[in-house]
Amino acid sequence: MNNSKQSGIVLIEQPGAPDVLKYQNITLQQPGPDEVLIAQKAIGVNFLDVFFRNGTFPASQYPAPIGFEASGIIEEVGTGVKDFTVGDRVAYYASVGAYAERRIINTNEIFKLPEDISFEQAAAVMIKGLTAHMLIKQSHKVKPGEVVLIHAMTGGVGTLLSQWVRALGATVIGTVGSAVKKELALRRGFNQVIDLGSEDFIGAVNQYTGGKGVDVVYDGTGKATFEKSLTVVKDGGSAVLYGWPSGMPDVDEDLLMQRKIKFAHDALNDYPLYQDKSGKGMPEIFSLLRNGIFEREQSFIYSLRQAIAAHADMESRKTTGSIILKPEL
Ligand SMILES: NC(=O)c1ccc[n+]([C@@H]2O[C@H](COP(=O)([O-])OP(=O)(O)OC[C@H]3O[C@@H](n4cnc5c(N)ncnc54)[C@H](OP(=O)(O)O)[C@@H]3O)[C@@H](O)[C@H]2O)c1
Repeated sequence: MNNSKQSGIVLIEQPGAPDVLKYQNITLQQPGPDEVLIAQKAIGVNFLDVFFRNGTFPASQYPAPIGFEASGIIEEVGTGVKDFTVGDRVAYYASVGAYAERRIINTNEIFKLPEDISFEQAAAVMIKGLTAHMLIKQSHKVKPGEVVLIHAMTGGVGTLLSQWVRALGATVIGTVGSAVKKELALRRGFNQVIDLGSEDFIGAVNQYTGGKGVDVVYDGTGKATFEKSLTVVKDGGSAVLYGWPSGMPDVDEDLLMQRKIKFAHDALNDYPLYQDKSGKGMPEIFSLLRNGIFEREQSFIYSLRQAIAAHADMESRKTTGSIILKPEL
């Protein structure tokens, strides 16, 4: 009897623009020892996927798998699997090949999803929440009363980061790329929001801080903002560069030294809570959802077959919050 299952998957055919993402059907074998087969329900899209797709982070060979996080239900288990069974709701955040309808994965890369966390919520907050965790707890430890500047505050990481920083008792000043995004941030109760498309960034930060500057800037945008960001950081403050969709900025080491600005440039890949694939960081992240610090916002949802559109919209700054691919749509 042949028990093999079909799965639609998205692969990067070769490095390039969004249309190098190709959807195809493959036949999966049965899971091997210590492996399970997951029917995936929600897949998280991250700007990091764009860097893999366009070759900034090249794969060792093409076609290459893409995507790192998803949630779903176990459909089959291999031999020797003790802690998981068919029907378990599970998730993972650090295993390449997530853009798939079904996938086979080793059990040391997955964890059980709490009943009250939906597949979509998990896919929306795992990598982005762990990134916010790293930025707040390692890159610069946010303290109550600090003034914190967050670029792209309505983006995936930016949404969680700004809500978490506010909950820690700090004041958030945020930037966004359009009037629509500014309205969204205002609706979320942030009242110091700068639309980079129409407002004078340095003037606005000076106005909000009475010319004192900010204690820390979290810059996940890069070349377009980083140099200006430094001009509004207090002497002795922190500048955290954690992403560069607009290009890698030149970092003026002499200026940082003169002004005693602490520069951090951390990568999730090196963060212990991410390296640990057992979900150790998830209870803290999920509790922020449960207690309403992370708003249960509607993510941007696309069918897995529409991965090209999801990437194109993300790169052209049309999306806000998290982006999710759903195989069932
Ligand atoms: N250090 C790490 O290990 C780590 C881990 C995870 C993510 N990241 C980084 O965190 C950043 C946010 O990731 P995300 O997945 O949550 O993405 P995202 O914030 O949802 O999307 C990127 C946002 O950046 C802003 N942006 C400014 N200039 C841009 C440009 N030229 N092209 C595209 N976007 C531009 C846009 O917001 P506005 O229109 O509002 O400006 C856009 O919505 C990315 O840079 C990502 O690489 C880093």
